[in-house]
Amino acid sequence: MRIMLLLLIAAVVVMPLSNVEAQKAKSIDELAKMFDSSQCKSCHAEIYAQWENSHHARSLMGVQDGLMMTPLAKKGSTPFSPDDPKKATLKTFPCFKCHLPQAVAHAEDSFAVEYAEALLAGDKAKVGKLKITCIVCHNEKAIIHKLSDGYPEKGVLYGSKDIASHPDATFKKVKKSQIMDHAIMCGQCHGLGPNLEFENPVQCATLYGSYEHNYLSKGGQQQCQECHMQKINGKADHLIAPNWNDLEGTKKLLQNAIAMDVQTVGYEWLRKGGDLRPMIVVNTKINQNAGHRIPDG
Ligand code: HEC
Ligand code: HEC
Ligand code: HEC
Ligand code: HEC
Ligand code: HEC
Repeated sequence: MRIMLLLLIAAVVVMPLSNVEAQKAKSIDELAKMFDSSQCKSCHAEIYAQWENSHHARSLMGVQDGLMMTPLAKKGSTPFSPDDPKKATLKTFPCFKCHLPQAVAHAEDSFAVEYAEALLAGDKAKVGKLKITCIVCHNEKAIIHKLSDGYPEKGVLYGSKDIASHPDATFKKVKKSQIMDHAIMCGQCHGLGPNLEFENPVQCATLYGSYEHNYLSKGGQQQCQECHMQKINGKADHLIAPNWNDLEGTKKLLQNAIAMDVQTVGYEWLRKGGDLRPMIVVNTKINQNAGHRIPDG
């Protein structure tokens, strides 16, 4: 009897803990659902359509859907790769820090196992469910100084102004974010340099480092948003180009961004009597007007 009672008490004590655990996503579907933004489409149709075509909406797919993280799931391919996908953990994929930040804080290792298996099976439909959604930028990543400004609140979106009653069923309020129109918003994922906090450092995007050290330091004044999210019909463009899958569009952007000035002088050099040598001087100047190095990485 006493043992039964003890077990009962133990069950009561353990239950709330396991409930807390249950708030973390165990599977791809659970994480995708937690950050699903499809309800935003009905009211923000134009922004939604732009975002759907952006790289943020396919952040684990890779250019031309190449599933670029597959080597991490393959035995022996990288120092992170487990011998068996069943042994994958969140640490197997340091890339989540920027390509899927919600996984770091809101998923369990079982999520990483399912992801590793999906990569090995080339299951694009499954991997494609994981995205940097509206909620990732407008909630999860909207506050940087968490000690002074607090953590992002549940049911609250962050934007450029306070809106006391926002008509969405889950997100009933919009609060002003200190960073939404600042480069540091993007800098959270667009990289300063090598990520030295991992057991094996990883380097991917370093563009924010280039922006800070080679653009601002030379007098550059624009935020990323001013160049990449120029207003269309009065609203910030969420395509956030370039879209590498759109070759024609990318070509146009690059033609506007990169200028090449070539000047040539041809002459003949009389080295000595009867020895006339044709010579040419070519001066090439390549200039670009981005706020950072291109290409990055
Ligand atoms: C039922 C309609 C509706 C739905 C659903 C909805 N919104 Fe809104 N949202 C609005 C309206 C209306 C405004 C106010 C527009 C204004 O005053 O500029 C707004 C404002 C916002 C703003 C603030 C804009 C600013 O100026 O910074 C953000 C951010 C936002 N919505 C994001 C979202 C996201 C993300 C979702 C999905 C999770 C969503 N909304 C779902 C109608 C909706
Ligand atoms: C510091 C944040 C960060 C980390 C960590 C990171 N990435 Fe990236 N990655 C980005 C950003 C941002 C881009 C796109 C912008 C760019 O290329 O400048 C990108 C682009 C890429 C691209 C090229 C575009 C594409 O989709 O094909 C590949 C491939 C890639 N990352 C793979 C990885 C892998 C694999 C890891 C983990 C081993 C990783 N990244 C870790 C931020 C990061
Ligand atoms: C939560 C992390 C995150 C935030 C915040 C973020 N990005 Fe990205 N961004 C990425 C990742 C990851 C990719 C690459 C996805 C892929 O592999 O295709 C990307 C892709 C891009 C691309 C497409 C070009 C390329 O090389 O893939 C541009 C442009 C871009 N981001 C600009 C911005 C700007 C501007 C902001 C701020 C308004 C921003 N991003 C905020 C993570 C982020
Ligand atoms: C990569 C991060 C990122 C993602 C993903 C993202 N947003 Fe935004 N959004 C921003 C930033 C940054 C701004 C502010 C731009 C500015 O001030 O120039 C913004 C602005 C807005 C605004 C105000 C627009 C205006 O100009 O009045 C609305 C509304 C909005 N977002 C809704 C959404 C919805 C809906 C989604 C999903 C379909 C979404 N956002 C996805 C970063 C993001
Ligand atoms: C002065 C305008 C300007 C500013 C500021 C700016 N960009 Fe860019 N960015 C460009 C141009 C121009 C290109 C090249 C043309 C293109 O492909 O869109 C580019 C290209 C990119 C690319 C593709 C990189 C590649 O590998 O070719 C990414 C990603 C990007 N920018 C992100 C950012 C982020 C994040 C910030 C802020 C930290 C930022 N940009 C600030 C103008 C700017």
